Amino acid sequence: MINRIGVLTSGGDAPGMNAAVRSVVRAAINEGISVSGIRDGFLGMHQDRIVDLDRADVNDIITRGGTFLGTARFTAFKEESVRREAIENLNKRNIDALVLIGGDGTYTGALRLHEMGIRCIGVPATIDNDVHGTEFSIGFDTAVNNIMQNMDRLRDTSSSHHRVTIVEVMGRHCGDLAMVGGIAGGADYIIAPELEFKKEDLFTKISQAFAAGKRHALICLCENMVNADTLASELEATTGIECRATVLGHIQRGGSPTAYDRVLASRLGDYAVRLLIDGVYGKCVGVEGGILIATDFASAIETPKLSRIREYNCLSNKIS
Ligand code: F6P
Repeated sequence: MINRIGVLTSGGDAPGMNAAVRSVVRAAINEGISVSGIRDGFLGMHQDRIVDLDRADVNDIITRGGTFLGTARFTAFKEESVRREAIENLNKRNIDALVLIGGDGTYTGALRLHEMGIRCIGVPATIDNDVHGTEFSIGFDTAVNNIMQNMDRLRDTSSSHHRVTIVEVMGRHCGDLAMVGGIAGGADYIIAPELEFKKEDLFTKISQAFAAGKRHALICLCENMVNADTLASELEATTGIECRATVLGHIQRGGSPTAYDRVLASRLGDYAVRLLIDGVYGKCVGVEGGILIATDFASAIETPKLSRIREYNCLSNKIS
């Protein structure tokens, strides 16, 4: 029997986190369950920054990016003693179960809490789309749209100056943002960890394409692979074609969530509460082919995410 659910957002913020919190609050209250909002993820759990959330507290947040609860990356939560102190705060407030919204770091914290007897359900939210157990994580679609819109802007200036423009996007070690954002933005070449990348191949293709009449090109680069400015200099020095690099950075994480992310977040938040009511925990929720699924935390953490890139081979870096 669950009387009070705690909800938190943790790790990098993702557009749609608010919609997920809203859904958890409304689904729980509809079932007569009270909700506590935990500020700034595991940090706030440890510091006992926990507030009651009512239906009205989540009014008008479905449109907002970021997370109104706040978030943090709290590495001290790896310590069992720190987690014990945090659990005392949950017990003090009669919090029976938790819904934890975030990425793989959040799932690891949730698994540790689950092992210590706390009923937990994880909800995937990260723009990187790098967590196993779901086809899409909350925030990915909004970030893809942000990338596309910024690539459209860069296309204007790149085409005017007849330049090559390198656009670096986030993703940590997952190429989904680069691949899907790059396709949507009309990239001529995509550099992602899952794709073979040889600088010489890129330089040759760019040279050949410009020799054949191409006037400008866009390259979409996943972060943590090569330095964007260095690559731009090398490309310019090798090909003789002007090249600029733009790192999109945290701009990708902001803004009002897309309809897809709002709906996904609403479905997953509601599902998380329903699982807890049904006595299911120690799992993270997700969507696969439009169907809601639940996966054990341990398997979600240990299994490498099957990148969407395999399914997006419509573009094979053939610059024309
Ligand atoms: O949320 C994931 C992510 O956006 C990664 O793509 C990126 O490398 C990282 O977060 C940046 O994190 P921070 O907010 O700590 O700068």
